[in-house]
Amino acid sequence: MLVVDLGGQYSQLIARRVRECRVYSELVSHTTPAQALRARNPRAIVLSGGPASVYAEGAPDVHPGLWELDAPILGICYGMQLMARDLGGEVARTGASEFGRAELRAGDGVLFEHTPGEQVVWMSHRDSVTAPPEGARVTASSPSTPIAAFEAPERGLYGVQFHPEVVHTPHGNEVLKNFLYGVAAAPPAWTAAAVIEEQVERIRAHVGSERVLCALSGGVDSAVAALLVHKAVGDQLTCVFVDHGLLRKGEAAQVVETFQGHFQVPLVHVDAEERFLDRLAGIDDPEEKRKRVGEEFIRVFEQESQRLGRIRYLVQGTLYSDVIESGGTDGVAATIKSHHNVGGLPEDVDFQLVEPLRMLFKDEVRRVGEELGLPERMVWRQPFPGPGLAIRIIGEVTHERLEILREADSILQEEIRRAGLYRELWQSFAVLPAIRSVGVQGDERTYAYPIVIRAVTSEDAMTADWARLPYDLLETVSSRIINEIPGVNRVALDISSKPPSTIEWE
Ligand code: XMP
Repeated sequence: MLVVDLGGQYSQLIARRVRECRVYSELVSHTTPAQALRARNPRAIVLSGGPASVYAEGAPDVHPGLWELDAPILGICYGMQLMARDLGGEVARTGASEFGRAELRAGDGVLFEHTPGEQVVWMSHRDSVTAPPEGARVTASSPSTPIAAFEAPERGLYGVQFHPEVVHTPHGNEVLKNFLYGVAAAPPAWTAAAVIEEQVERIRAHVGSERVLCALSGGVDSAVAALLVHKAVGDQLTCVFVDHGLLRKGEAAQVVETFQGHFQVPLVHVDAEERFLDRLAGIDDPEEKRKRVGEEFIRVFEQESQRLGRIRYLVQGTLYSDVIESGGTDGVAATIKSHHNVGGLPEDVDFQLVEPLRMLFKDEVRRVGEELGLPERMVWRQPFPGPGLAIRIIGEVTHERLEILREADSILQEEIRRAGLYRELWQSFAVLPAIRSVGVQGDERTYAYPIVIRAVTSEDAMTADWARLPYDLLETVSSRIINEIPGVNRVALDISSKPPSTIEWE
């Protein structure tokens, strides 16, 4: 299934929702020529939402040949209006714009099968369709939008003014399923097992009998990418795990145990903690820390890969969202992941890239990880920054501070998991500001570090809200941290949202 991106904010979400219905979908630019679309032989096409008016100058358009393709088309919001404008209907500025929740009255259209006659939907439009395309019949209306959906089954045209892809449209998923299964007869065959099978074949065909190198970071992306490659070419793969000593308690051991112990993947474990700590000595500027960790990472990785001899292929955990963001949705650009998750390999590496996650969204990577038998802790690990604990110690990074922070963080994680909140939180972690405050323990005055608890909810890390953790959980965490960790005498809670604060402290 192809989702033609007309610039709407939910285009990616449509592709994800379709895949959640187990139908493979890809996002393509609206500038893609109809011939190129035809060559993909799509089972169905969805036109996304887009900017305000189909009559505005420079408004995104589709190639006229798209209407002639032998596949049913569903237009959503702007996509629906484009369909009406180009195929004999009419779109007008009626003055009745609709934003947010609307009451939809749905008639007997294929798209509304098994859904209530009156249902809530999410709208976001100024213009409205005032006449449907030729041959189309109106199948739903809302108080301010008389033509809220239409269907022309003989022409394979379907349009909805509302957004079936957002959660605020409770029956949206059924509408999409009706289109996918009922109209397009697409089988729900896109499963984690199918992804694995397909990727394994692709990887084999791509790398042949050559050796492949992969940098493991402890995160889910590099882990799943490595396991897929290992399944495909076995011991032709060597993983390098640069352990910078800035991971959380037990994480490095888990990487080694999982890959070497459980999956028996050839693994070079480089214990480089001393090297990283030497490079960080005396540094308290956040960007300087990032720069030094990044540089040292590359240095260690290059040394190790040279030691391993000539290896032509390098695995990258690039995700579909990275591909989309870098504008490579049409499969042209093979960009190295530019943002910092994977540990930041150099941009000019002399490797050919193997990117088995290139077509997957994050939740799909997790499902594939589960299917491959990756431990739950790795599959569901919250995002963790490449420079690790170095940017959670506010001030100079030392052995002693790392140990204290690791212990405090481990207590926090343990209690959050025990309370069943780990997956609900986008991130939860401890921060150690390198200052000391006065306390009293027993008969003694103490002068020790504080620990700050940071826990946030978020969709994408662009904005975040501080999590309302239960008081009894906070109490347990606070007393455990202070009682169990010498060197800490105070626990504080960060109650700032992003913006204006950031998630991390540095
Ligand atoms: P902020 O602190 O900017 O963080 O609100 C947004 C998200 O990015 C992560 N983050 C990083 N990830 N290297 C990374 O790999 C970094 O230097 C870095 N800084 C922030 C942060 O954990 C959050 O998920």
